[in-house]
Amino acid sequence: SGAAAPILVAIDGPAGSGKSSVSRAAAEQLGFGILDTGAAYRALAWAALESDIDLDDEVLVAELIESWGYVTTLVGEPAIEVVLPAAIGVKGHDVTDAIRDPAISGQVSRVSKHPAVRDRLNEMFRRIVAESELPGVVIEGRDITTVVAPDAPVRILMTASPEVRAARRAGEMPGADHGQVLADIIARDAKDVLVVDFMNPAPGVTLIDTSELDFGQSVQAVIDVVQSAQSTA
Ligand code: DC
Repeated sequence: SGAAAPILVAIDGPAGSGKSSVSRAAAEQLGFGILDTGAAYRALAWAALESDIDLDDEVLVAELIESWGYVTTLVGEPAIEVVLPAAIGVKGHDVTDAIRDPAISGQVSRVSKHPAVRDRLNEMFRRIVAESELPGVVIEGRDITTVVAPDAPVRILMTASPEVRAARRAGEMPGADHGQVLADIIARDAKDVLVVDFMNPAPGVTLIDTSELDFGQSVQAVIDVVQSAQSTA
């Protein structure tokens, strides 16, 4: 009954920029919800592989968004009502860990490249955010500042050099080969950037380069941008 529309904080950036973990921590400190749109693309790729659908088939993949009904699970319970989503479900499976598998990371661009898929997911993201009763929602992805929420009062592009991003990723994977991790990151950027340009800030978007920032400083940088937007609102 009459809750104000949530304040939107749109954050884009490449893999390894710190975007996901920083967005989560910033949302938690602000008491905002968090919508990880990459998780939706990943869950869709997982679902398409699981049901033996050709990932390059735009119509079948787009239909999957409805038929699997994972969308409601993804966002309905707990995702956006609490600050941190507990688990991401697809048709009864908890795919929280499975969607982070490198095998999925390597395949997601085959589903995210389809305009019909993006249109449907974007519609879903906007609906989720509009229906949230939280004071604010952080939405993170690749095209949030430009396509999903170009009118958001806070829009941030988070970047870091490829070397720093590779070092962070390698640090999360014991025994990883740094050279291979860097090559994988560069290859993935090249594929992702064909779909949307998330390397250059659109007009009005605040650039946060985390190459020289530690985790806490990166979170604070986001909070500073949000608070300065709130004080001028
Ligand atoms: O942020 P991430 O690594 O979890 O994203 C997974 C994949 O989804 C990646 O290949 C880029 C794609 N993606 C996209 O195309 N648009 C978004 N808004 C979010 C992610």
